[in-house]
Amino acid sequence: MSRVTIFGAGYVGVPTGAHFSRTHKVTIYDPDTEKINTIRKVIENQSDELHIHEKDLIELLRENHENIFLTDNIEEALKNPEFIFIAVGTPPNEKGRANLKYIYSAAEQIAANLSNDCIILNKSTVPPGTAYLVEDIIAKGLKNKVNFAVGSCPEFLAEGTAVEDLRTPDRIVYGCDDREALDKITHFFTFLQSSDSLCPMTTLSSELTKYAANAMLATKVSFMNSLAILCDTIGANVREVQEGIGKDQRIGSKFLNASMGYGGSCFPKDTQAIAEYAILQDSPLSIIESTIKINDATTEYFYNKIVEDFKDNLSGINFVIWGIGFKARTDDLRESKPVEIAKKLMDNGAHVHIYDTVPGALVNFERENSKYSGSFTLHHDQYEMFSNEIDGLIIGNEHEKFRNPDIDKLTTMKHKYIYDGKNILNNYLIRYLTKLQFQYKSVGKDSVVNGRDRTKLVSFLQDKYMD
Ligand SMILES: NC(=O)c1ccc[n+]([C@@H]2O[C@H](COP(=O)([O-])OP(=O)(O)OC[C@H]3O[C@@H](n4cnc5c(N)ncnc54)[C@H](O)[C@@H]3O)[C@@H](O)[C@H]2O)c1
Repeated sequence: MSRVTIFGAGYVGVPTGAHFSRTHKVTIYDPDTEKINTIRKVIENQSDELHIHEKDLIELLRENHENIFLTDNIEEALKNPEFIFIAVGTPPNEKGRANLKYIYSAAEQIAANLSNDCIILNKSTVPPGTAYLVEDIIAKGLKNKVNFAVGSCPEFLAEGTAVEDLRTPDRIVYGCDDREALDKITHFFTFLQSSDSLCPMTTLSSELTKYAANAMLATKVSFMNSLAILCDTIGANVREVQEGIGKDQRIGSKFLNASMGYGGSCFPKDTQAIAEYAILQDSPLSIIESTIKINDATTEYFYNKIVEDFKDNLSGINFVIWGIGFKARTDDLRESKPVEIAKKLMDNGAHVHIYDTVPGALVNFERENSKYSGSFTLHHDQYEMFSNEIDGLIIGNEHEKFRNPDIDKLTTMKHKYIYDGKNILNNYLIRYLTKLQFQYKSVGKDSVVNGRDRTKLVSFLQDKYMD
């Protein structure tokens, strides 16, 4: 059992701390007293509300409460840890680069308070080389004579499934150039996970692996989104193409779902950050630059499908949005595509009725969008807002409650437009909705409703492909 301190009680720090506490003694430190008190109340059974929404997290914290110590006091946080995991935010700055100010402040605090030998690992997503920077800051500011090593241990959990992702990871990537420290990190993880999943490497490779993974996944999504737009143009169905290529094991079926674009706290920030980093290093990653451009263009494409139905005039138009979190089961609205769409609609005069299965997502939306007050209404019931004043339904995320809607409850809509931002309705349902006079729009499945113009394609081929 090792003694571990986690810096940061956010979406990564709390689930990671709870997971480590299965086999290690964990201190979770955050200068934000409110967050620390919120977790404490939950652990002590005085409340069931955490500041982040994660399945099974509360149970895990309570189960292992004897191994968890919470503090907002830096001296307490650094009482004898063998490992420190830094899991503070690295939000984008105005140039799209990762802002390292929280990493800096964590490193300075460690330098000023560390009083025993320790291994420090960055869990935050950071530009390659940051571990060296942290090492230098600590070395310069160190108050006590101690030995320390700094490495990288990027996090790959996905919000909404963090507890499960941590319990059964495909891989645990960590890097440290100090061989002895690297062995100690391996030892630390062997108490937690299967050794098959361990991927020790150098510090720089580990830091780059995190960006590489997110950029690769985002690129898969943008690739499918470009294909989806081509599908709409020629009359193919992107869902069928997805299935056809996804069954090829070299490609794999995950992250092939075309949609209104990827969002969330990681993909947009991390693709931007690594693209910018590579430019600054004179080694541009033009494929990732394209991924980002395609993502923005796909959202615009989807939005335009909505507004063109109302001849660009949204004044007095009422929309329902099902799912405001960037994906199902999260209250995190950072870079959420449904939020982006909602704001554009409201900016152009529409009113939006918002429902999400996670009440915290609605609370966050209200808090972050007070300037739109009066232009939106929040709902805790999926159907209560449907009436003859509703003009369109937008499916914002992939929650299963949205896959098979109770169609009877939608039939009161004034204009029966359904915009499927996640392509989750199946072909059968789409055809059924069409029979009931609904108009279905998505990204890459227009052919299910419109069919295909065979004659046009034949003349196109005759014209361009016969020498
Ligand atoms: N959210 C995700 O799904 C996810 C997944 C993988 C990796 N990451 C990366 O992990 C890092 C953390 O992300 P997050 O979503 O948990 O952020 P978050 O904003 O939810 O949490 C960060 C926490 O750090 C705290 N903090 C700031 N300065 C501190 C300091 N000096 N000492 C201790 N705590 C401090 C803040 O108060 C905040 O509670 C980021 O680099 C992010 O890119 C996030």
